[in-house]
Amino acid sequence: MKLCVVGTGYVGLVGAAIFSDWGNQVVGVDIDAEKIERIKKGEMPIYEPGLSDLVVKNISANRLSFTTSLVDGMKEAEAVFICVGTPQSETGDADLSAVWEVAKQIGENLFGYKVIVLKSTVPVGTNEKIKNVIRENMKMSAEFDVVSNPEFLREGYSVEDMQNPDRTVVGSDSEKALGIMRRLYEHLGKPIVECDFRSSEMIKYASNAFLASKISFINEMAQICEKSGADITVVAKGMGLDSRIGPKFLNAGIGYGGSCFPKDVAALYKTSSDQAYDFKLLRGVMEVNESQKEHFVNKIVRYFDGALSGKTFGVLGLAFKNNTDDIRDSVGVEIVKMLRGLGAYQKVFDPQAMYNAKKVLGEVSIKYCLDKYEAIEGTDALIILTEWQEFSTLDLDKVRMSLKNQVIFDGRILLDRKKVESAGFTYFTIGKKTSGTELLDRRPAGTPGVILRNGN
Ligand code: UGA
Repeated sequence: MKLCVVGTGYVGLVGAAIFSDWGNQVVGVDIDAEKIERIKKGEMPIYEPGLSDLVVKNISANRLSFTTSLVDGMKEAEAVFICVGTPQSETGDADLSAVWEVAKQIGENLFGYKVIVLKSTVPVGTNEKIKNVIRENMKMSAEFDVVSNPEFLREGYSVEDMQNPDRTVVGSDSEKALGIMRRLYEHLGKPIVECDFRSSEMIKYASNAFLASKISFINEMAQICEKSGADITVVAKGMGLDSRIGPKFLNAGIGYGGSCFPKDVAALYKTSSDQAYDFKLLRGVMEVNESQKEHFVNKIVRYFDGALSGKTFGVLGLAFKNNTDDIRDSVGVEIVKMLRGLGAYQKVFDPQAMYNAKKVLGEVSIKYCLDKYEAIEGTDALIILTEWQEFSTLDLDKVRMSLKNQVIFDGRILLDRKKVESAGFTYFTIGKKTSGTELLDRRPAGTPGVILRNGN
């Protein structure tokens, strides 16, 4: 099949690479000329395991090419995929300006018959509106159908997820267009959910909101575990073995972040409010997520008696999760800002996100280090904020020699509590009574415990 993919972000670039790897002829389009030049040379604008090899392989096989011209890109395509960003607007709903712009240009340049496929995450009703935008901008007689085809790719694993999806969702009112989608996806041998536009759009929001709810649920359970002496890791394991619950997305931590969950949960909440429905559960999910990072910061503040000024922390992890260089809505970055707002100096390290983090955090009270041990050297405490595998294998003897205070705050339950405590550290994590929480419990009432929002 001949395909055009508009937008070369996480969804578009991975989509274009994999569609071409399946044997299709694919043109990727982006208005950013510098980005397109870099991709043509095999330099990926994002860190995504396995992506670079796929792009290079398929460019060499002449199945994949890139251009800044939408007209050229869509000329021969049977299907045009819209994969542009839909960031959160100030009112909480999705900003669809990039989607409308691409739809307008597609309309202006449409001829023959094409399927226009919307992969970007969009509120219910958008696919119907896209049809109108395309039709209103058509300059010659042409035929087209619209398909809603949301993506379920996790950053850091998107190559793997796209090659082996749990399901594919396609929403359309055209049997012809659904037939084309079947041709594209059915070789995967995975379920294809065929439905109307609105249900397809809602499946995407419902899926992300449900996963976010699972995380907020386990984070609230973690609070109860800490107080009652149960261990959240064991509780999550025991729950997850029930096939009705499943083990995934039950890792307690500092809360969910990234470019998807926070914006999609907020957008679904906004959609329901707009329909005069108060989605109470979702409101709770967002509130818990906000308070989770404060709960973690509070442990640090309380341990140091509210006096962070003059303290230096070794911070490991800035990306919103492991296996990515993405720091959009990263809870780790938020926590670094909060600690800086409270007067702390921080030495930070992340295996992939240093460049992106520096652009957002700047240099005030922050030193960017070359590796994890440099970040820890000479600091008052070690703080872990991202679940990178390489942080779980820290050499504890080296850490002990590097730290001024033998204290670790582990926001991702990455370290083995028993090993850390028997190596002599005061250990704080999420959802467990540890040497750290016991120490705070023994302190007299009235010890400062400052909660600050929006530190900078
Ligand atoms: C998420 C969904 O998982 C994808 O299915 C979806 O396609 C994507 O959003 C999207 O809408 O584009 P992603 O944002 O890449 O993918 O990241 P996740 O792996 O879902 O993690 C999101 C956040 O939740 C991260 O901050 C992560 O650290 C946190 N998390 C995840 C937890 O705190 N606990 C968990 O058990 C799992």
